[in-house]
Amino acid sequence: MTSFYGKSVLVLGGSRGIGAAIVRRFASDGAKVVFSYLSSPDEAQVLAAETGSEALRVDSADRDALIALIASLGPLDVLVVNSGILGAGDPLNMPPDDIDRLFRINIHAPYHAAVAAARTMPDGGRIIFIGSANADRMPMAGLAAYSASKSALKGMTKGLARDFGARGITVNVIQPGPTDTDMNPAGGPLKDVMHGFMAIKRHAKGEEIAGLVAYLAGPEAGIITGAAYNIDGGFTA
Ligand SMILES: NC(=O)c1ccc[n+]([C@@H]2O[C@H](COP(=O)([O-])OP(=O)(O)OC[C@H]3O[C@@H](n4cnc5c(N)ncnc54)[C@H](OP(=O)(O)O)[C@@H]3O)[C@@H](O)[C@H]2O)c1
Repeated sequence: MTSFYGKSVLVLGGSRGIGAAIVRRFASDGAKVVFSYLSSPDEAQVLAAETGSEALRVDSADRDALIALIASLGPLDVLVVNSGILGAGDPLNMPPDDIDRLFRINIHAPYHAAVAAARTMPDGGRIIFIGSANADRMPMAGLAAYSASKSALKGMTKGLARDFGARGITVNVIQPGPTDTDMNPAGGPLKDVMHGFMAIKRHAKGEEIAGLVAYLAGPEAGIITGAAYNIDGGFTA
């Protein structure tokens, strides 16, 4: 375990799934954790009480509210942008407003949050995006907007790593494969199809993704930046 005692951590989208596992990991490693949520106030309050973290309701699609939240928190040692939505379907039938909202949450929010955090982040800080293995492999129809949004994070990661590298701030993207959450339950109807693309034929657990987040946020990872890490049971192999 890495000690994050005294470190200030913000997790965007922490009320459920992978984000909740990340909140639990940092809290159990001693960090002062704040997380945002939108539609799950009950889960957020239970998690905050369980972990001693603070839950704040902020829509990642609301750029100005997101920037104001980050400015209000003061210097962050670690920013994790986990909030993301899926949006699957025939592109010919998907409402354009829904696609634009997906891009605001999955692309615009990580960019604006990272820049806002970097304004006050101390040297050696960490910015970690939760992307998707679908940035590198999209073997199913109906997910073009989602995979495009996750591919955007790879370019953003490389560019921001250059922008903030002189201050020792690292920027990386973690790309999970199928992971057991409400978004993609291990017992869902597509599980056999997804496992067919994998070398290790099971969904990941949120804790496994949180473990890689903790490593990249920790002192051993200070030279890792601009990188994309697939954690996907071989989905992209
Ligand atoms: N599960 C997978 O198989 C998988 C695979 C690859 C990548 N990912 C990525 O991993 C991340 C987490 O996914 P998950 O599976 O844990 O999803 P999930 O179970 O649907 O949870 C999503 C989390 O993001 C929050 N969130 C969503 N939209 C938000 C918004 N507009 N503002 C604030 N918070 C928001 C949700 O909060 P509320 O419920 O409070 O709104 C929730 O805490 C996403 O970026 C996803 O694309 C997941």
